[in-house]
Amino acid sequence: MTHLRHAIVRPPSSNFADGLTSVYLGRPDFEMARQQHRAYCQALSSCGLTLTVLEPDESFPDSTFVEDTAVLTSRGAIITRPGAPSRKGEVDEIAEVIQQAYSNVTFICEPGTLDGGDVCEAGNHYFIGLSERTNQKGVLQLSEYLSALGFTSSLIDIRGLSKILHLKSGIASLREKTLVLIEELAGHKEFTKYNHVVVGQAAQYAANCVEINDYVLIASGYEGFRDELQRRGYQTVELDMSEFQKMDGGLSCLSLRF
Ligand code: GLY
Repeated sequence: MTHLRHAIVRPPSSNFADGLTSVYLGRPDFEMARQQHRAYCQALSSCGLTLTVLEPDESFPDSTFVEDTAVLTSRGAIITRPGAPSRKGEVDEIAEVIQQAYSNVTFICEPGTLDGGDVCEAGNHYFIGLSERTNQKGVLQLSEYLSALGFTSSLIDIRGLSKILHLKSGIASLREKTLVLIEELAGHKEFTKYNHVVVGQAAQYAANCVEINDYVLIASGYEGFRDELQRRGYQTVELDMSEFQKMDGGLSCLSLRF
């Protein structure tokens, strides 16, 4: 796995609860979301990352989910074009920040749409989700950019999977060629060459975990999953994500890591 050094984060704005959601878990509590975000930032720091913390942005209630605005690789960055109209403007400030860190930056262009949550890095290969947010043109543009950077990619169509918003709601890549997968994705032919950790339906939310250097950040409340990762030799850090889960957000969504 690439050794990560930095993360970009943006705390939730006061109108965070007005963002998009496809789950019906109730309205998030803003104060609790802020606390959970602080704990998340502390965990990133403990994993050795230096943080760039952007100001909360009330113009975009979903803007705490910074991962959707860019795809950061070890060889270049791609600024996305989010699929939800209310989120398109989120990329403007992020692009400026990323252009300070990367000399090689490209952009997903109209009519392509792409959410970073649909992009899963697995070493030198990228899985790109075709979803309600990421369209065919977005997948094609990204795969061409990645190919120019020397990476391979494959398309994973998740449009038939009713329960996940983004590809990474149902998959995470860990070291040792290991994928964490929800049951619906476990049988996909693109994943046959990998080791699998399959999460059952009741633990589906836990699939969105993030490996950062020596640790794997996981959502709290999934002891069976935590024990399975520990049994395989991963060091886990558990974080309460209840308020972000209410807005379709997971651990990976809250940062851009590079
Ligand atoms: N609430 C995150 C999203 O729908 O993009």
